[in-house]
Amino acid sequence: MESVLDETDLLTQLITALGSPLAIVLPQQLARNVAAFRDVYSGHRLAGQIFYAHKANRSSALVRELAAGNAGIDVASLAELQHALGAGFAPRRIIATGPKNRDLLWLAARSGITVSTDSLAELSELAALVTKPALSPVPVQVRLSEFTSTGVHVGARRSRFGVPAAAMNQVLDLLDKHPGVFELSGVAYHLDTIGLSEKAVALEGCLLALDEARSRGQRPWSVDVGGGFGVNYLADGDQWDAYTSALSQAVLGKREPLTWNAHGYGLRAEGGTVRGSLQLYPAHRPVAGAAYLDRLLQTAAPQQRRPLGQLLLDSMYDLHVEPGRALLDQCGMVLASVLEVRDDDGDTIVRLDCNARDVSLEEHGVLMDPVVVHRAASTDARPVQAYLFGNLCLEADLITRRKVFLPSRPQAGDVLAFVNTAGYFMDFSATQALRQPVARKVAMWREHNAWQWCLDEQYWPVRTGVEAA
Ligand SMILES: Cc1ncc(COP(=O)(O)O)c(C=O)c1O
Repeated sequence: MESVLDETDLLTQLITALGSPLAIVLPQQLARNVAAFRDVYSGHRLAGQIFYAHKANRSSALVRELAAGNAGIDVASLAELQHALGAGFAPRRIIATGPKNRDLLWLAARSGITVSTDSLAELSELAALVTKPALSPVPVQVRLSEFTSTGVHVGARRSRFGVPAAAMNQVLDLLDKHPGVFELSGVAYHLDTIGLSEKAVALEGCLLALDEARSRGQRPWSVDVGGGFGVNYLADGDQWDAYTSALSQAVLGKREPLTWNAHGYGLRAEGGTVRGSLQLYPAHRPVAGAAYLDRLLQTAAPQQRRPLGQLLLDSMYDLHVEPGRALLDQCGMVLASVLEVRDDDGDTIVRLDCNARDVSLEEHGVLMDPVVVHRAASTDARPVQAYLFGNLCLEADLITRRKVFLPSRPQAGDVLAFVNTAGYFMDFSATQALRQPVARKVAMWREHNAWQWCLDEQYWPVRTGVEAA
């Protein structure tokens, strides 16, 4: 990422030619991130598949790069499944997760991918699609939720997704009702939390559900622990602590504002004290990505009190993961042209040719300052504190409601680079409001000691020679 940012001429040529905003993805970094997860598997002597959660980025280059290796892919819509098949993924490397419509179930059943079923109703719907006409048995795994444990007090949180773990017997009844229709490959969870103890309860709950399935004559062989391994967005934990305490001070009015219109990110002042809780992603996460998986596998199962990785190994179950954000760590950035810089009522305003949905850091509660890419030598090398406005006619269209701290003052025509934004921020929310264009996407890769690039849709690992490398 840093060496891409050094290519000032190339970046400014690209944004001039392809427009602002412009997204850049780095497929080779994705392959390195897969390798880091695979190292954790080796360390615990575990087998299983690393399914990239496609939803985190729409890029074709990233998906094709993975198809050239041996990772799998997790698709959550009909179009994502078509995309994965078209990129070269064999069906055995594809899993469909999340709630599915009938078209997705239809194609899943016919192409032979694994369906991670989200509910009993979905399983019944799939059975009907498989029996008329009779198709080969469909590999299914069952997503479970609402786990409980006697070993540790973790409340079973209600979830919109999955079958409650206590209803596993109903799943098995349904499978019994449809002999020869399904092949139960395993059970799964995906929890919307970064809490290790909750995940440990879920993993052990899955092992118990597998025992139950075996006692009923099924032969499942895997546990899928979903995604949510996280990314460490800030290298310096002290900076994060300093920022969050300064924000509290600003909310109390004890220092100059750090946000537009005194936005508190969940904090508010009440009777001279700060109330509420910070509604932000914990941007400094020293244990994230593959290291988080390692930590989970080292965690003792709450009831059996042995490391979860060891329990998986002893029972010879495969471990599957579905990381989205974590696999995209350092895999891309969004560039935006600076349209105007002005001083207004004591504040510096930088107006950009992109909107808050083109780089949706704010929506996801991740705070990172952009990097300034100057077209020419900067005329004002002093640091500046600025607000970043977007290109929509909405008061709310701030790229971030937070004042950003830039090492030098940008000028109209310069570019701001929002780094490490491939996972969810780049295109998950992008729209064509006001008929403004959604960012074009470019893939960049190192070859012959230099950065090469092509449009995202033109990238095939074999053409670029990346596969050979
Ligand atoms: C079922 C499932 N698997 C995997 C993921 C990917 O999560 P993350 O990007 O946090 O790793 C999600 C995200 O919503 C999900 O719903």
